[in-house]
Amino acid sequence: MGKIIIAPSLLSADFADFGGALAEIAQSGAEWVHLDVMDGQFVPNLTFGPKLADDLRRRSSAFFDVHLMVESPHRLVPAFAAADAITFHLEAAPHAHRLLQEIRRMGKKAGVSIVPSTPASALSEILPYTDLVLVMTVNPGFGGQELIPECLEKVRYLAEKRQKYGLGFLISVDGGIHKETAAAAVAAGADVLVAGSAFFNAPDKAELVRQLRGM
Ligand code: DX5
Ligand code: ZN
Repeated sequence: MGKIIIAPSLLSADFADFGGALAEIAQSGAEWVHLDVMDGQFVPNLTFGPKLADDLRRRSSAFFDVHLMVESPHRLVPAFAAADAITFHLEAAPHAHRLLQEIRRMGKKAGVSIVPSTPASALSEILPYTDLVLVMTVNPGFGGQELIPECLEKVRYLAEKRQKYGLGFLISVDGGIHKETAAAAVAAGADVLVAGSAFFNAPDKAELVRQLRGM
């Protein structure tokens, strides 16, 4: 589709300095900020909630890409007024069809995500209601894991369905994205690259963003 969007994940930032992390993202040329919300139930880790998004919103007009890794996401969605996109997990939402429409009614991009063990075909009924499909390329919970190459097959599958049915959702990949894996994800059809450890470990973040984009 268009230009590749880079979404650095605050999961790998210094949690004592989210404001500084936001400034680093802005300076790097990355378009989005990825916020990983974990509840210690759906995934075995805990991060932060809507207050962080509210507080960061006052400092930034960047695109906030909220990734909810929580049970019962419908309870938390209304609290994320500061988000630009809200993505929940299909595995945690039996009524994904309804929740996607609720997110759109809030005026936000509606996203749905699948873990490595969920087939992309499980999304087929809801693709027309989706603005963003986030394909997890690691098992969610922690940064710094290796990308599972088989997950890129799902990106290819989704890109094919998108074309076949004339749909407009973006495809995002999340987990193990760095300068060696980014090209394969883009070749498979990804539009958005989430990068946590690769971004925050990079000494020159603007250079890393260019490398991820393949420029
Ligand atoms: C993992 C999160 C990711 C994480 C990616 O559960 O959803 O967004 O930050 O981290 P890296 O890029 O280090 O794999
Ligand atoms: Zn994420």
